Amino acid sequence: MWYCTKYPGDIEAYIYQPTDFILSIFNAAEKRRLELEQQRSNRKLSQNVEDILREKRIIGESEVVQKLKQQIAMCANNDAIVLIRGLSGTGKELVAANIHYQSRRRLEKFVAINCGSLPQDLIESELFGFEKGAFTGAQERKKGLFEIADNGTLFLDEIAEMPLSAQVKLLRVIQEGEIDKIGRTEKVKVNVRVIAATNKHIEEEVRAKRFREDLYYRLNVVSIWLQPLRERRQDILLLAQHFMQKFSADMGRETPHLSEAAREVLLRYEWPGNVRELQNVVQRLLFTGERELGRSEVEIALGWLHRDRAAKDPNGIDFTNPDKILPLREVEKRFREKYFRFVRDHAGSDAEAARLLGLAPPNYHRMCKELGLK
Ligand SMILES: Nc1ncnc2c1ncn2[C@@H]1O[C@H](COP(=O)(O)OP(=O)(O)OP(=O)(O)O)[C@@H](O)[C@H]1O
Ligand SMILES: [Mg+2]
Repeated sequence: MWYCTKYPGDIEAYIYQPTDFILSIFNAAEKRRLELEQQRSNRKLSQNVEDILREKRIIGESEVVQKLKQQIAMCANNDAIVLIRGLSGTGKELVAANIHYQSRRRLEKFVAINCGSLPQDLIESELFGFEKGAFTGAQERKKGLFEIADNGTLFLDEIAEMPLSAQVKLLRVIQEGEIDKIGRTEKVKVNVRVIAATNKHIEEEVRAKRFREDLYYRLNVVSIWLQPLRERRQDILLLAQHFMQKFSADMGRETPHLSEAAREVLLRYEWPGNVRELQNVVQRLLFTGERELGRSEVEIALGWLHRDRAAKDPNGIDFTNPDKILPLREVEKRFREKYFRFVRDHAGSDAEAARLLGLAPPNYHRMCKELGLK
C-alpha cells in the first residue's frame, strides 16, 4: 500500500507525520473492503450466470447436439461473428445466449433484437441511436443497442429481414467498431460481439439482391446449423420429459406419466415447428391436468383431434387453419394411420383387414409396421 523512507538520522527526524501512517492504514482498510465487496458482487453475478446457463441448458444426446455443444464452446472462446441458421423453433436464440453466457463477456449484457419486428425506418435508430435534435421529434438523445450492448453481445435475430440501408451501416460497425449516430459528427467506439440468426436461405437473399453480399461474407465467418427435430428423433422424448418436469415444477405439480403409446405418437410426429412446438404441446398436455397421459391426450394436444370435432373429422386433417398446412407425407401418414385403425377395429382379423383394404397381406403387415401399428 505504502511505504515510508526513513531519514538516516534519528527517529525524531522522520519526515512523516503520525497522521500519514494512520491515513494510509485507513486507506488500506477501505481498499480491502471495496475489493471484498467487488468480489462478492462478482460472485453474485457469476451465480446469476450459472443460473441462466442452467435455465438455458441445451437438452439432447444425439450426435448433432453433442457437436453443437462443442461448437458453442468454441465460439465462446473468441469474439468471431457467428451466423446461426435453422428453421423456426430449432433453438437459434438459445444457442446465441449459450455462446454469450459461456464467453468472457458473460457478466456484460446480452441484447437481442428481432430485425423483422421493427418498421424499416425505426431499425436504424434502434440499433445506432440518435442525438438530441438530430431530427424533428428527437427530443432526447437515444442510446442505440450497439451502445447498450457495449462490451457484451448483440444478437441480431432474423438478420435477413434487415433493410438494405441498415445493412450498410451494420457493415461499417462490424468493420470499424464504430457507430455513426444520427446527428453526430464524431463516431462512437463500441466493443460488441455480434451473433446473427436467420431461418431463411440467406444465399438466395444475396442472389436476389435483398441482402448485401459483402455483409453476408462478414457475417458468415463461423456458421452453426441447427437440425430440425425430425432429423434427431432420439432427442424428442428427452426434450418432452425435460419440458414436462420443468413446467410441472413451475405449476407446483407432480410430473405426469406418458404412456408408451403416447411416446410413440410424439416420436413419430414430424414436428414442423420443432422444439418450440414440442414445448407448446407439452404445455397443452399439462393443462389437461391428467396424471396419466395416453395416446389420445397427445393427439389432442397435437391438434389432430379436437375433442368436439373428433367424431366429425376422424382423419385429424385440419382444413380450417391455413397456418397449419403440413407436408403431404405427414398428411398421408395421418390419414393412413387413422384409416388403418378404423378398418382393423371393424375387421375380424388381420387377413380380413388386408382384404378389405385391397392389400396383399405382406404389404399390409409392412404398412402396419411403418405406421407403428402392432
Ligand atoms: N435443445 C434444446 N434444449 C432445450 N430447450 C430448447 C432446445 N432447443 C430449443 N429449445 C427451446 O425451444 C424454444 C424455441 O427456441 P428458440 O426461441 O431459441 O428458437 P428459434 O430458432 O430462435 O426460433 P424462431 O425462429 O421461431 O425464433 C425456446 O423456449 C428454447 O428454450
Ligand atoms: Mg428466434
